Amino acid sequence: MAADKDSLDARVPPTCPAAISQILTHAWHHDLAGLKPLLNVPGRASVQEPTTGETPLHAAIRACGPAAAGSNSDPAAVKAATAVVEELFFSGAIWNDVDSNNETPGDVAARLGQTDLYTMCVEAGVRAELLFGLLEGYEALSSEDEDEDMAEEEAEEAGGENGTAEVEIEDPDEAPELVDTEIVDENPDRAFAPPQPANGGDVNSEDYLRSNLVYSDGKLVDADKNGVMMAWETSIMRASVDALLPGLEAGRKILNIGFGMGIVDKMFHETKPARHHIIEAHPEVLTYINGPDCEFGKDWEAAGSEKGAYQVHEGRWQDVIPQLLEAGETYDAIYFDTFGEDYAQLRMFFTEYVPGLLEESGKFSFFNGLGADRQICYDVYTKVVEMHLSDAGMDVEWREMDVDMQGLGAEGEGEWEGVKRRYWTLDKYRLPVCAFMG
Ligand SMILES: C[S@@+](CC[C@H](N)C(=O)[O-])C[C@H]1O[C@@H](n2cnc3c(N)ncnc32)[C@H](O)[C@@H]1O
Repeated sequence: MAADKDSLDARVPPTCPAAISQILTHAWHHDLAGLKPLLNVPGRASVQEPTTGETPLHAAIRACGPAAAGSNSDPAAVKAATAVVEELFFSGAIWNDVDSNNETPGDVAARLGQTDLYTMCVEAGVRAELLFGLLEGYEALSSEDEDEDMAEEEAEEAGGENGTAEVEIEDPDEAPELVDTEIVDENPDRAFAPPQPANGGDVNSEDYLRSNLVYSDGKLVDADKNGVMMAWETSIMRASVDALLPGLEAGRKILNIGFGMGIVDKMFHETKPARHHIIEAHPEVLTYINGPDCEFGKDWEAAGSEKGAYQVHEGRWQDVIPQLLEAGETYDAIYFDTFGEDYAQLRMFFTEYVPGLLEESGKFSFFNGLGADRQICYDVYTKVVEMHLSDAGMDVEWREMDVDMQGLGAEGEGEWEGVKRRYWTLDKYRLPVCAFMG
């Protein structure tokens, strides 16, 4: 039996407008025949109960109740729910709408142990994000605003909320814009105001690169207290270096993008590389690098076997990389870990630049924080990035490692004290190890 908070009465209260209540009730009862005609009007597959945020997807999944251990509970109910969920996605239901419990339909499926339904939500998320990526890269002849509107509409039709294209690649920005996205509009079918995170807020690259930074106590934060880099990521950096340089062989050529606290660079340096290049854009990180507390200043540069062997390239990687390519630099290992940039930048990096920078037998990795504050987003982005890497001619091997979430503490506590938002909430990190196909 579903718990009270998951009951139809709790999710679709008597105050719910009749047209919305009707759709939600049909979805809840997995009444496909009754539901189908109601979905003929565009947008009806993504109606939301105004106070609970229940969507037809939430209702269809929630109504299955918790799966019995090791099974999907009542197979007939799950089969019926599957057909309804399929129809909803087909009719434009949005995969990542959050309800008043800050749960997407996929989160509900995961909590109830409904693995097949969870997989359907992940697959819908992947389709939506892939489509959004395609549309974003498509240069139509209309104005930018029109393009954006069109991309958003098309992505929504594919089952995606517009904000999800804003996935960022490090820290506060990594997750798709689920709770931050203001979806309240004049459409009464979508009048639900999703819960806002107490410490929400976007970071964009331009603002970040202009902001003041503070190095302290195992963390680097910006002026808004966004965690740029934190010492708890050391084990991830360790595993990344071990994966990129099997056997930690000396004499390799290494490129690291994003210095941060220099954790990964210290590990790279310990392998005694032949070439070690670092790209860093933030003026205050560069000041730190050249200051007394950092070992990667001018003395380190001078210790290379020849001029330019060890070097910090100052500037945005977007500006520096073309110069490295022009100079014919290639690397055995490339690591990418920036801050405040969206997924499109990472994708551009591995699609347009890695093929020219990486030795044929070399390895590439990046900090995989895509969607890391919500399991379903992490799962969606694992698949999206895998497909985009494949488009770029690369295979990826995911190495899963534990993250000690208990040790990290709750929001604002333990390691997160003094950090605006817990940008990592998952107990497994998927470390990508990428190499050219074939
Ligand atoms: C998360 S930190 C890197 C942490 C690093 N892996 C470590 O082990 O300490 C991200 C770094 O990328 C830098 N960064 C952000 N955008 C950049 C860009 N476009 N080009 C180069 N560096 C950038 C930031 O200033 C910051 O120092």
